[in-house]
Amino acid sequence: MNATASPKTSYQVNHRELNEWVQQAAEHFQPDQIYWCNGSQKEYDTLCQQLVEKGTFIKLNEQKRPNSFACFSDASDVARVEDRTFICSRKKEDAGPTNNWVDPREMKQTLRKLMAGCMKGRTMYVIPFCMGPIGSPISQIGVEITDSEYVVVNMHIMTRVGTAVMNVLGQERSFVKCIHSVGAPLMPGQKDSLWPCNPTTKYIVHYPEERSIFSYGSGYGGNALLGKKCFALRIASAMARDEGWLAEHMLIVGVEDPQGDKTYVAAAFPSACGKTNFAMIIPPKDLSGWKITTVGDDIAWIKPGKDGKLYAINPEAGYFGVAPGTNERSNPNAMATIAKNTIFTNVAITPDGDVWWEGMTKNIPAGLTDWRGQPYDPASGKPAAHPNARFTAPAHQNPCLDADWENPSGVLIGAMVFGGRRSTTIPLVYQAHNWNYGVYLAATMGSEMTAAAFGELGKVRRDPFAMLPFCGYHMGDYFNHWLQFGRDIPNPPRIFGVNWFRKDEKGNFIWPGFGENMRVLKWIVQKIKGKSNAVESPIGWMPHYHDIDWTGLDFSVEQFDEIMTIDREQWKAELLAHAELFERMYDRLPKEFIFMRELLLSSLWRSPERWSLESEGEE
Ligand code: GTP
Ligand code: SPV
Ligand code: MN
Repeated sequence: MNATASPKTSYQVNHRELNEWVQQAAEHFQPDQIYWCNGSQKEYDTLCQQLVEKGTFIKLNEQKRPNSFACFSDASDVARVEDRTFICSRKKEDAGPTNNWVDPREMKQTLRKLMAGCMKGRTMYVIPFCMGPIGSPISQIGVEITDSEYVVVNMHIMTRVGTAVMNVLGQERSFVKCIHSVGAPLMPGQKDSLWPCNPTTKYIVHYPEERSIFSYGSGYGGNALLGKKCFALRIASAMARDEGWLAEHMLIVGVEDPQGDKTYVAAAFPSACGKTNFAMIIPPKDLSGWKITTVGDDIAWIKPGKDGKLYAINPEAGYFGVAPGTNERSNPNAMATIAKNTIFTNVAITPDGDVWWEGMTKNIPAGLTDWRGQPYDPASGKPAAHPNARFTAPAHQNPCLDADWENPSGVLIGAMVFGGRRSTTIPLVYQAHNWNYGVYLAATMGSEMTAAAFGELGKVRRDPFAMLPFCGYHMGDYFNHWLQFGRDIPNPPRIFGVNWFRKDEKGNFIWPGFGENMRVLKWIVQKIKGKSNAVESPIGWMPHYHDIDWTGLDFSVEQFDEIMTIDREQWKAELLAHAELFERMYDRLPKEFIFMRELLLSSLWRSPERWSLESEGEE
């Protein structure tokens, strides 16, 4: 079956609003044809085959990487474009100082002009999709209109797509309207490019009150797979504010102790700071009996249950994970997950038709094709894979997938963890004294920029809750929402800060990270159960050296001291950065934050200039 020659619909659409919206879109975008996605394997295979025939997809070696494909994006289209991302709320104040805003009426006019005829020469696909397990009361439905086959096949992996969703949608259920175009219409006879996009004009636009999304000009990741950042974070965060829940940039991991007692932990780290890795870690063999399972690796929707406790679902069905750095040692579960049925974007390709990226193996294989499709010259000093190269793989291929990952009621969240990429200042782990201070800790989180977005690499920027690029409304209102959320539940989860990325004077990571992060996680889950101890530091509760299980790891008291020390000078700079953040959003900043900052400051002044656990001694 050729998808373009297939019937307009393989199922009946009795949803009037949906039909009218699709009709209007087609009239305006003028595609050659409309195709309604049914979500079947056959549909996926047909579209992948079409992408191979166009030259966009390269079929990988069937023996080494069954049913998998690689593709190279346009060099102008390799990551999210934060400066082209807009929150077009009716009032500018509601988008807040951390979002780009344009009056929605003006933006609609701009887009209307820009998108007239934008799908000429292409097929317009209609993708009904569900974020979250089909039938879960926490799940939400969206429909994405797109002119990109790449988007359709990625959406197949990342969300639940097709007929089953149409059945839930019925005749009148509301849905989030998502429109996407690569912005590259084809004139009759014009040859398509391998990665169609608009190299000069990109818009990623959200109308939070209308719950709708327009994306133009990019075919990449979070810019184009609209269920992910656009819907599940930016639009959903606005829904969550209105309805009393949380939509967060968080992984969800199950931690089972040797007695079989399980705790779920939700953790927010900024883009490319280790969420996928942390969601799948294999505990070091010396921590025998501990088990880790994955619920989600990027996004969590969290709702209070009738019992006043918090339950979370992963709205996604797959992983769109960072490839570089992933290897058999750092993340064997991810390597197993991507062994087959996977789409690779901007990785390098080996001469025998497999994939490679920096950090996969020590030695660079000879004869690579780099992410630009050119023969790779290791002497060039450039990476063979793009630093933001990604894999798209189905969650059900993850060997440590949690048994309850699709539980419609969600999983009970016992603790929340926040952590950025910081080479100085922030210790390996600490615990907030209470919910409000935990919210402060998360709100003031900083992180060094990564390749997941265009920006100045390595520069520390404040990234509140790892949500700076993803909050669909005023960040100050978001902080207030978190504070209120905590007041409304009787016993909110404990909140922790972590930092895997602190460096020594020579610039090396002090902490081995990856699987060894399990030792920190063990302390966290035991701490919330009252089974492990802590010392009070100027910034919160901290484990003593002997509170962490070191079995099988050579990590000295001195090293631990180095990674846990609270340096007053560094923290003075840190608190100055908090003040800068607060000034940006002073009009809606929770006043509690001003006092908490003062408290932190005075507690730092009351402590030694270089506060360390060593100098604290025993409790
Ligand atoms: P998004 O998908 O962009 O939201 O990010 P993510 O947080 O899921 O990113 P991911 O887990 O894919 O992060 C990948 C990067 O983090 C790679 O460069 C890894 O090498 C690095 N990384 C992951 N865990 C650790 C760790 O424990 N220590 C160190 N030093 N690096 C880590
Ligand atoms: C991120 O940047 O946080 C991602 C990748 O998870 S993308 O979907 O492209 O936003
Ligand atoms: Mn992410």
